[in-house]
Parts: sequence; structure tokens; C-alpha cells
Amino acid sequence: MLNSFNKYSKVNSITLHSDAEQASVYVAQQIAELIRQQQEQGKPAVLGLATGNTPKRVYQELVRLHQNEGLSFHNVISFNLDEYYPICPDNDQSYTYFMRKYLFSHIDIKSHNIHIPHTDFPPHRILQYCKDYEDKIVSFGGLDLQLLGIGRNGHIGFNEPGSTFDSTTRLVNLHSLTRQDAQTHFGTIDNVPLQAISIGIQTIIQAKKILLLALGERKSEIISKALKGEISTQVPASILQTLSQVEYILDRDAAALIQD
Ligand code: GLP
Repeated sequence: MLNSFNKYSKVNSITLHSDAEQASVYVAQQIAELIRQQQEQGKPAVLGLATGNTPKRVYQELVRLHQNEGLSFHNVISFNLDEYYPICPDNDQSYTYFMRKYLFSHIDIKSHNIHIPHTDFPPHRILQYCKDYEDKIVSFGGLDLQLLGIGRNGHIGFNEPGSTFDSTTRLVNLHSLTRQDAQTHFGTIDNVPLQAISIGIQTIIQAKKILLLALGERKSEIISKALKGEISTQVPASILQTLSQVEYILDRDAAALIQD
């Protein structure tokens, strides 16, 4: 770790690492520590998990800890942040496919403890489905830890600019920049879904601990806005400035605009 400081926010902390590798390993260690602590107390660890390029190395490290250092996920209950709507879980662009590929198929998590929004159903079922997803998180006592990336427009999960801070799990319209960024995965912009189901900002901020990981120069501008800018629904991640349970983990490039 290079540095830990909280120059911009009175309440939360920023942990700065020299590169993406170090930052990712650090995040994996935080998650592993929580899982082990909960195991020692005979409790489940309720994890909110993210997708995208950012957490891939974190998941790789968690898999290594499982395979080489005996970290068990038997007490883990996971809830993913979001999923495109509609998409079939077997589609290789679905987040179900992503989580299986990068994490779940390599660890001993119980399949009935995995929760990812499934979105291959018709519109009339959405409201009830979202309510059930939200209720399920509450039924496990809420999220012990939420891992977040950040979109270049400041979204967390798929809570796009304009999402209210009291939002819960719901169907959202994807922002043009979000769809543009997803284009490389889907081939063409027309293949990128227009909508998604995402847990809400309120759902996220109720987590007992929140780790926001941002890597690389392309995140530096939004990191500067989210951490130093005005708290506004136009930059959904800006609400995190007000929360004491938030830790931002940044590599040097992502932190480029917030260092003197
Ligand atoms: C997607 C996900 C977000 C993620 C964001 C950033 O939109 N829904 O949860 O934080 O992408 O993605 P990346 O890490 O690839 O930059």
C-alpha cells in the first residue's frame, strides 16, 4: 500500500496502491478476512458482488486463496449488483456467465447461496421479481460487504445518473456512455441491451462495509468528481462521500487527479 488518506472526505478513507495488481490483491484480502471472521463466529458472510473488468483480478486472487490457502466459501451468501435486461443466463455476456467463469465455478460456495438477478422473463413479472430480490437481501440481515466498481458516468451497479439515493432494486434504462463502454463485449452497440435490473443506491449504502475499487487512467476523471465534487444524483457514486463505512481503493492512475 502506498498511502492511506482522507483529504477530501471527513468520513471515509482512500487507500492508494502503486498498481492494479496490488490494489486488487488488497481488496481480495479484505473480503477473505471478512469471510474468515464470520466463520469464526459461526455466521454467514453476506457479500454484494460486482462485475466488469475491474474486479476480475480480485476474483482470481480469491480463487487462489481458496485453492492454495484453504479459504472456504461455505458460509458465503452472495448477491450480485445487477444484470442486463433481458438476457439469458447462458449468454456469454450475462453476468451469471461472468460470475461462473471468474469465481463461482472455482470455489466451494453453495449454489443455493448465489443470487444474481435473472432477467429472462417478461415485463409483467419485473416489479415482483425486484421486490423479492430486495426482500431476500433483507432476510439475510443485509449486506456485510459490498464490492463496487464505478462507471465512467459515476454509476454504481447500474444506478445511472439521475438515480435517487433512496432507490431500491428495479428496472433501469442504461445510459448511452454505459452502452458505449459495453459495446466492445457485445460486438455492436445494437447488441447492447437497453435496460438492466440493478439493486438500488439505498440497497448499496445500507451495506455494513463498502469497498469501491477503481483502476486505471480512464477512471481518474470520474474518481475526482465522485470523491471531490458536489454530492449529486448526477454522479451517483458521490453519495458515498457521506458514509463512514466506505473505503475507496485506487491505483496510482485512477487517483491521478486527486493527488497534489
Ligand atoms: C458495469 C457494471 C458496474 C461496473 C461498471 C464498470 O456497468 N454494472 O457494476 O462497476 O460496469 O465496469 P469496468 O470495471 O469494466 O470499468
